[in-house]
Order: sequence, then C-alpha cells, then structure tokens
Amino acid sequence: MEEKDKPVIAGLRSIKLEMEPGIYEWCTCGRSAEQPFCDGSHEGTSFEPLYVKISEKKLVKWCSCKHTKTPPFCDHAHRELPGYSPKEE
Ligand code: FES
Repeated sequence: MEEKDKPVIAGLRSIKLEMEPGIYEWCTCGRSAEQPFCDGSHEGTSFEPLYVKISEKKLVKWCSCKHTKTPPFCDHAHRELPGYSPKEE
C-alpha cells in the first residue's frame, strides 16, 4: 500500500460536536484541515468522503484518528494508536 492510500491520523481523540440534522461529509483520509469533515484534500488518493445522514439534533463523537471500525463514529480505536495519551481526553 502506498503512503497516499493510508489514512493519516488527524487526531488522537474524538471530536464532539452538537449536530443539526443534515448530510455531512466525514473525512476518511485524515488529510482535511477541516476535521472531522472533508475539505477535498483526498484528491489524488484512493479515499472518498463518507456521506453521513444525521436525522435529529444530537451530540456526535466523530472519529478523528480514522481507524474506527464504526465510521464515522469514535469506537475508542484511537486508544490503541502510537502517541495516545489518556491525559488528552
Ligand atoms: S478518534 Fe476515537 S476511534 Fe478514532
């Protein structure tokens, strides 16, 4: 696998946001400067944003490490990644 086809770890904890209903583009590549959302930085990689429908206003814990098994939501997979520190949560 080439470097450009691996997700970048954008962060080592979830990004908690109060979301309004709507369709959102979650960044899968980790290269976006607008985490947790897509800014088009996946261009030239094999990644595409994940379209997510939020039906009601709620608090969402978006994954920023891009290693979750339940995308786009944090499943605490970030705790297994190098550099993780519980102090940051
Ligand atoms: S930020 Fe928690 S699993 Fe990715």
